[in-house]
Amino acid sequence: MDTEFCRIHVRNRDQVLLIRRGDKLLQGMEQCGQQLIRVGCRKGGCGLCRIRILSGEVACEKMSRCHVSAEDRALGYALACRVIPQTDLVIESDHCRLFQNTPTE
Ligand code: FES
Repeated sequence: MDTEFCRIHVRNRDQVLLIRRGDKLLQGMEQCGQQLIRVGCRKGGCGLCRIRILSGEVACEKMSRCHVSAEDRALGYALACRVIPQTDLVIESDHCRLFQNTPTE
């Protein structure tokens, strides 16, 4: 097992990133030159990098409740720019509310 990196499987893109341990997920993805997660403000304000963590452990910096509620957190949603992987992860990207289907009237 490689302890210097965390393996991040982005399931909806069927691709894998290797993130240096201790880096934030979004930062690590950008350092790999990949675009598997949407990038916005990089500081938790815009919600563009919203992901769902399906398995694995993370440390999280404070996230705006308007982008990730307590209920969302319990379901695995997080902002990639605020997440520091602690183990290998399986995630889904593209969970920004701006790009999700909204009911039509
Ligand atoms: S990039 Fe804006 S909240 Fe993460």
